[in-house]
Formats: sequence, structure tokens, C-alpha cells
Amino acid sequence: MTDSPMTNEEAAPNYPFSRDGACPFAPPAAYQRLRDTEPITRVRLYDGRQAWLFTRYADIRAVLAHPAVSAETLAEDFPFLNPADKVSKRAQSFQRWDDPRHAERRRKLMPYFTIKRVEQMRPRVRGMIEHYYGELIDAGPPADLVEKLALAVPSTVACDLLGVDYADHVFFETRFAVRLNRNSSAEQVRAANAELTEYVDRVLRSKYGKRNEDLLGRFVNDHVETGEVSHEDAVIDANLLLLAGHETTANMIALGTLALLEHPEELARIQRDKTLVPQAVEELLRYLTISQSMGVRLAKDDFEVADCPIAAGDGLIVPVAADNYDDSVFPSPHTLDLTRPGARGHLTFGYGVHGCLGQPLARMELSEVFATIFDWLPGLRTDIPLDQVDFKKDAVFYGLRSLPVSWDNDAARAVRRQGKGDD
Ligand code: HEM
Repeated sequence: MTDSPMTNEEAAPNYPFSRDGACPFAPPAAYQRLRDTEPITRVRLYDGRQAWLFTRYADIRAVLAHPAVSAETLAEDFPFLNPADKVSKRAQSFQRWDDPRHAERRRKLMPYFTIKRVEQMRPRVRGMIEHYYGELIDAGPPADLVEKLALAVPSTVACDLLGVDYADHVFFETRFAVRLNRNSSAEQVRAANAELTEYVDRVLRSKYGKRNEDLLGRFVNDHVETGEVSHEDAVIDANLLLLAGHETTANMIALGTLALLEHPEELARIQRDKTLVPQAVEELLRYLTISQSMGVRLAKDDFEVADCPIAAGDGLIVPVAADNYDDSVFPSPHTLDLTRPGARGHLTFGYGVHGCLGQPLARMELSEVFATIFDWLPGLRTDIPLDQVDFKKDAVFYGLRSLPVSWDNDAARAVRRQGKGDD
């Protein structure tokens, strides 16, 4: 690693930063301060190691797209953000491989996430969402929106897509939560990983020897049974898909609903004109920036970013959480503007070759929920003040642990009857 020409090494701030600002939806204020003063700087990681931190949109994109940058977490010098991170990322899915082998594996999975394929899933996903609205209405308020909807919907969708039994959802959700908590010990993460690996291994084994229709089954038939991909590699990738398929979108549904309730004028705009919902989803993805620990890389070769020399072996922190609030790209970034021009330029799904594979699916699920939730649950409101909401400040993905809500259930029953054509 190089010595920094720009910063006193002793003065390097500790990283990661916490969300400490006045607004619970905004990323850490430290990103803005650094962007204004030292946009490429050194930070100190938990193990005393130093790494480069980038806070400008243009620099973050340049680094994430640079061929000298590696995502390979098995490399000796790879920087980790905490001990748990080190354990979970050592098990390498294709997300932690570099091209060309990364691209080759990604290509095998891409057909399941095309816009066309995702659009075919839309009516089925709508049915799943309405099923959970129905359960909420039958049980009546109050309810925990996270458990009963935000987590339930993407978990059900992910299980359906992958061919995993939704009856096991509590098992895998709780283990993934340990893995994603930045405060989990290495031991806890190791134990959770071992249980998840054993579970996914069993799921994949159940797919052998028959013709399957679900993603994991088809993957086994087409690539594992043919000897092209090893069973062990398939288990690691299936683990990634199950995790990425539910946890991320769940956080967006919970946090997005809360943000809309906190901004009633913005909410009224999409309620008046539902064609605005896809655009609103992009702004919510930017504004909430749930991928708060995403974007860690290693320099494989020497290169320069905005005249700053980076040396082979340097750790690179390229937080997508910083760029979404770069005011040279998103003016007044702290304002939630559901029709913001250019909101889709956010980097919440990452950037470059590792950009999120599941983004069409996430976008579809989010637009289906935000287009319907306030109609199905009229008068939806939180039961606690904002400062008592349980935010996941210490998780890899920002979100809510729970959200107690109520709504007008008589009105909800009437809406449901009308929807079914009962009136
Ligand atoms: C709102 C929801 C989501 C967010 C915010 C999100 C965010 C991200 C981010 C930031 C990355 C890049 C990580 C990096 O560069 O290190 C990523 C990659 C990935 N995501 Fe998502 N994701 C979401 C939903 C999904 C869904 C529904 C799936 C589908 C199962 C999925 C599957 C993946 C996969 C497989 C990768 C690795 C891609 C690669 O390395 O080529 N994600 N996601």
C-alpha cells in the first residue's frame, strides 16, 4: 500500500461512518464533509489497516468501472470493514470474482432476470402482495409492517423464483440477519454461514435427477449435472441469490413506506397519478441509499483517479452511499422529490460489471407495492414517533427491524370487496 500524499495517516478517520445526521433517511453526514474538503482520502479500518475512501459520484463510478480494480475477496490484501465481513466474504460467490470467470457465471444467471422475464412474473407477484394485504386486513390493525409485508413479499417472491420452500423462511431470514449485522462476531457469522450452507446444499441436492422449472433447479440441470459448475460453487451462488433476493427489497419496502408517510405531499402526488410510481421508486432508491456497506475493492495494479495515484494492493472504499447525495449530480439531495429528473442515475444497485443482477426484479416488486399499499390499507399510519423507529444502523443494508402500523380497517375491507367485484 502507498503512503497518502493527501492526508496525515495518523489523522485518518475510522471507517465505516455511522448514520448520525438529523435525518434518519440520509447517509452519514461525514461523506458530504469529505466531498467538500478531501474527496479522495484515507480512512482507518477496524483492523488498523488504511484504505482510500472516495466520496464523489464521478470518482466512485470511475473506480468501480476500472479494469485495475478487483472484487476478489480471497486476495491477501483485500480490505474488510469488520471481522464478520471478513468471514462471510471469504466464501466466494461469483460476486467476489473478477472477469472473465465472473462474467461467465453471471451470463448463466442473466436469463432469469431480464426485463421480459420479470414482466412475466408481475401478475404472480401482484397476487402474492394482495395475499399479504388480505392477511393484514383479516387480522386487523395494529401490525408490524416489516414482518407481515415488507419481508414477507420479497421472501415469498425469492422462494418462488429460486425453488426454495417458503415454510423455511424464518430459518434463513434469521441466519442472514446475523450475517448482515456489522456487529455480529466472527464466530456468530461462521455458525450462521455453516447452517445456511448446509440448508442450501440440501435444497440443491433435492433438485438432482429431475426436470425442474425453478431457477436453482434449472441451474442444477443445465450447469451442475453437466459438470460445468461444481456443486460447491452452486451452493455458494444459491446462497447469494437467496440473500440478495429478499433482504434488500424488504428494507426498501419498509423504509420506503415510512419515508412516504413522512412526506405526505410527495405521497399525494403518486396517489393522484400512479404512472409516476416507477420514477418515484428510483428517487426512493436514491434518497434511502440502503446499500450502506456496498462498494469495497482492491487495486490490482497502479492507476490514477482524478490525479490521485493508487498503488497495487491498496484497499478501495467506493461507497454507493456517498454518491447518491453528491449535490453536483443530485441538487438538494436531502429533498425527497419523487419526480426528480435523473434520479435513475443513482448507484444504489452498484455500478460496472458487478451492478445488481436482480435490479429489474427489485424495481418491479417495489413499484407493485408502492402503487397499491396506500389504496389497500387506507389511512395507513405509524403507531410510534419517528425517533422511536428501530432503524438497522449497523446492518450491511439499511432498513427497519420493525414498523408498528395501523390503518382504517373498515375502509380497507370495503376496498377489498370492490377489488374483488363483490359490490
Ligand atoms: C432494492 C433491492 C436491491 C439492492 C439495493 C441491491 C443492491 C446491490 C448492489 C449495490 C450490488 C453490487 C455490489 C458490489 O458491487 O459489490 C448488487 C449485486 C447483486 N445483486 Fe442486488 N440489490 C437488490 C436486489 C436484488 C435482487 C432482488 C436480487 C436477485 C436475486 C439481487 C441479486 C444480486 C446479485 C446476484 C448481485 C451480484 C452481481 C455481480 O457481482 O455480478 N439483488 N446488488
